[in-house]
Amino acid sequence: MLSDKQIVENFHVDKIIKNYPRSGQKRVLLIQHHKYGKVILKIVEGDSERVRREIAIVTENHFGNVPQILEMDSYDCNDEKGIYIFEEFIEGDTLTNILKKSKLEISDALDLANNMLSVMVEMEEKRIVHRDIKPDNIIKKKNEEWYLIDFGIARVLDMNSLTLTEARIGPHTPGYGAPELFQYSKKDIDNRADLFSLGVVLFEAVTGSHPFLKGDELNRNEIWYNTITVIPQSVVIDGDKDMLLMGLIQTFMQKHISRRPKSVKQAMQWFQSVKEEIIKGGI
Ligand SMILES: Nc1ncnc2c1ncn2[C@@H]1O[C@H](COP(=O)(O)OP(=O)(O)O)[C@@H](O)[C@H]1O
Ligand SMILES: [Mg+2]
Repeated sequence: MLSDKQIVENFHVDKIIKNYPRSGQKRVLLIQHHKYGKVILKIVEGDSERVRREIAIVTENHFGNVPQILEMDSYDCNDEKGIYIFEEFIEGDTLTNILKKSKLEISDALDLANNMLSVMVEMEEKRIVHRDIKPDNIIKKKNEEWYLIDFGIARVLDMNSLTLTEARIGPHTPGYGAPELFQYSKKDIDNRADLFSLGVVLFEAVTGSHPFLKGDELNRNEIWYNTITVIPQSVVIDGDKDMLLMGLIQTFMQKHISRRPKSVKQAMQWFQSVKEEIIKGGI
């Protein structure tokens, strides 16, 4: 792993502003770059096919509400090889941090759903599944829209799986991943897996509590067991007296793919009519 000093020397960094917690072979830093200004630098050790795909997915598509990649290349310094990315810095808070303070008002939740669904509609058209939609990977840009980040385990549906382990277990974050990611059967996975995760995120955002995590789970297996068995109770939320939004969230979270909306596009149309009704009712 490169030291902070080596990073400053090798990547045109004027200053390291912040180090985000490391995960695996990936480092994420907020830096002051001599040309780009304040940007995110992601450094991934090793020559990983998966990282190249993540980068390709974002650079080859111009998704709205996804940070832009400004520069990417491989590096080879101090006996370490890998790939680096300079990425647009979305100044704001992650949904995780926002929810630590309080749950979302319905108007914020509607914006969140709208922004996420619009990225997901674009992804569906390109046959890309994100597979890791969760509060850590969603940022609210200051006084602006919500952004989806971290395409680290995204997958283009028409491509072959990368590794056997991945094919067997399926990468995911317990608590947000859809049942079919765990009970991995490649043919069952499509953009409705992301709809499930979005349903969990929205449920957590509007109720303030996670539908499958109660805090006393001991391990991933227990969380998976909850994901597959627990039926979240509908909760009346302010501004949604007819439970239109709650009803929609519930269908996103259906355990069986066949009971969710048949596509993200259809989910978006349904969402738009729910949103209109809620706004008509006055919020
Ligand atoms: N473009 C960005 N703008 C602002 N913050 C970011 C950006 N990319 C990543 N982060 C922050 O860094 C954290 C880790 O980055 P992420 O790409 O999600 O990597 P990981 O694979 O470690 O989850 C995020 O949860 C977020 O807080
Ligand atoms: Mg992440």
